[in-house]
This record gives sequence, C-alpha cells and structure tokens, in this order.
Amino acid sequence: MKINNRLNNIPEYELGKIKNIKDELIKKGEEIIDFGVGDPDLPVNNSILEELVKSFKEAGFNNYPPYDGIMRLKKGIIEYYKETFGVNLNMDEVLVLIGSKEGISNLIPAVCDLEDYVIIPKPSYPVYEAASRLWGAIPYKLSLKEKDGYLPDINLIPNEIITKSKLFVINYPNNPTGAVANEKFYKEIINFCYKNNILLCNDGAYNEILRSGEKPLSLLQFDYKKLCVEFGTFSKIYNMTGFRIGYIVGNSQVIKGILKIKTNVDSGQFIPIQHAAAQALKLDRNYINSVREIYDRRIALAEEILTKHNISFFKNKGTFYLWCKVPKNYTTDEFCEDLLKRSGLIVTPGYIFSNLSYGYFRISLTKDEKIIEKGLNKLATY
Ligand SMILES: Cc1ncc(COP(=O)(O)O)c(C=O)c1O
Repeated sequence: MKINNRLNNIPEYELGKIKNIKDELIKKGEEIIDFGVGDPDLPVNNSILEELVKSFKEAGFNNYPPYDGIMRLKKGIIEYYKETFGVNLNMDEVLVLIGSKEGISNLIPAVCDLEDYVIIPKPSYPVYEAASRLWGAIPYKLSLKEKDGYLPDINLIPNEIITKSKLFVINYPNNPTGAVANEKFYKEIINFCYKNNILLCNDGAYNEILRSGEKPLSLLQFDYKKLCVEFGTFSKIYNMTGFRIGYIVGNSQVIKGILKIKTNVDSGQFIPIQHAAAQALKLDRNYINSVREIYDRRIALAEEILTKHNISFFKNKGTFYLWCKVPKNYTTDEFCEDLLKRSGLIVTPGYIFSNLSYGYFRISLTKDEKIIEKGLNKLATY
C-alpha cells in the first residue's frame, strides 16, 4: 500500500509504553491515579446542560449548522472579547471550531504552502508540530527556557528561517509549563511578526485558567493592525472537552482561509452544542473565579507535597499543570515507569512536548484535592 510518507514523521498521539503498563496494572486490580491528561474533572455548569437540552426543542436543531457557527455564539464570543479584553471584533473575524485542535490543524494549510516554515516554541502542545508535518510544512523549533520565563527569545531565530516562515504559533498561558505572557512580550513579538510578514497565532486554550488575581490577556489587545489570530476553547475553563467546541478570532483573511477549508472537510459543530457554548459565555466572572480558586488550592497543595519530596518545579501563574524536573540519576522514562509501577501514578514525560524536554515531566491537576494529596504523597523523597 502506498500511503502518505509524511505520516512516518509524526509520532503516535498515545503514550504507548505507559499505556501498556497502565492496562496491565489495572487488569491486576491495582489503583492508578492519572495525572497525565489535561481533561478537567470539574462538573459542567447546570445552565450549560439545560441549554443543551432546551435547544433540542428548537426547529432545525438537527440540521447542518451555518459553516461559520451560529450567530448567537459568534455574538457571544464578540461580547466576551469586548468585555474581557476591550477588543472589538467583527462577525467575519470570528469562526466557530470543532474544538481548537481542529482549528490548529486547519490553520496550517490555510496559511502555509508545502515546505514553508512554521516557528514553534518547544516544549509545546504536540499538535503544532504534528499538524505542520502532516500538511507538508516544516516546523522550526525554538527552545523555551526557564531563565526567560518560558517566553521565546526571537533573537535566536536565524535570518534564513525568518524569511522562509509564514506562521509563528505561541501558546499562553502555556501548556506544559504554565508560564504566562505579558504586555511587553506580546508587543515585541507582534512587531517582529509585522516586520517579517509572519502570521502570529496565540493558542489561548488556557486564557482564563490563571491564579486568582492574575489578569487575563489576549494577543489581540496589542494587535493594532489586526493581523494576528487567537484560538479559544470551551474545553478547559468550562470543563467541556467532550463537547468539542472552540473558536478562532482575529485577522479576517486568515479566518476566511480556514473557513474555505472547513466548508470542504467538515460541516461545523452540532447546533445544540453551539447553544450550550453560548450559554457558557453568559456565566459571570464569579464562575471563572470559583474555578480559579479550585486550581489555586490544588496547585498550592501539589507544590507543597512536591517540595517535601525534593521534586523541583516551575512556579507558574497559569494552567492546571506543573512542569517538574526529573530527579537526578533517573532518565525520564525510568522515572515515569518507576512512578507508575511503584506508586500507580501517571505523569506525562517531558519529551512528549519536545525532544529538548527530556529531564522534565508534567503533572495535570485535574483531580480533586484528596486524590492529589493521596497520589503525590506516594512519591519517594529524592
Ligand atoms: C495548548 C492546547 N491547545 C489546544 C488544546 C485542544 O483543545 P480543544 O479541546 O479545544 O481541542 C489543548 C488540549 O489539551 C491544549 O493543551
């Protein structure tokens, strides 16, 4: 069979080896605590579920949705950007997605021709690199360092890469490090991209998952020429991962390109799910603050236990992850396998996010405090 050779250049999405050990332990009846995936355990707000059910009664709920998303949801996203970030968006600057993962993949062919470069900071969400490779673009990996607060140093990008690049993807608040961006950084990177005619995209999947008191920022607040784009999702702050609903906002030409692709490859998200998302945006800041407080407590608890066990981590201001160092004298695989076999704990090895991130692992605090306490206290002291 002759298949796409580019498939050989992307890894499997699942963590094969860890999954096999996990399955074996479960079969033996062992208790496993999974701090691997970033899938929130918190409940979906009742009003969202009620809206979902209510919309089944509306005529046309079962039909194809409008390709760009239902008007009500697009208006809700526009209002959210106005109220939260003071950013004014027009209808043609908003596109509803079947989750932001879908949008990230469709952004690549909307912007890049074969063999164009995409600048991707590393460590990062693996889909940026995989989607670039799948679509025949070439990822240029820019290393993020703790000493820079995990913000990319654009001075390190060689000129010949800059001239061949069409797209620069950043992600703040950042998965896996939890780092957040600031105004100065956004202004600098926007100017760099304006100057070099590169589309700048921020993946804002965790834009509201911040420690209490931190102000959410959007890349678009500083994009005075309206040349950038930003992803958002209902997955993380509204605990709606399985609903598959997100959006992209910003430059209308880019949105038009993605829409052209989507009209040829999918037909949008089920209308009731879009109504549910519109309802989610109606929840006030008290809802968001209450979610933040839960993650504040979880992070503080995990930091305390990790410190007791001599595991060092990056003190972050966003997301529900902790980016930790593998203890000395262990390889990343040895440590992650040992943790699973000895303590029944699953964490994500750093190299999933970059081959530059051996020596790190990520803990996802999408479990309640009791489980975090029980699980992390099973760690040895290193
Ligand atoms: C940085 C980042 N972007 C995007 C996504 C995908 O989110 P969605 O559920 O909207 O596809 C994730 C999911 O973990 C993520 O970590």
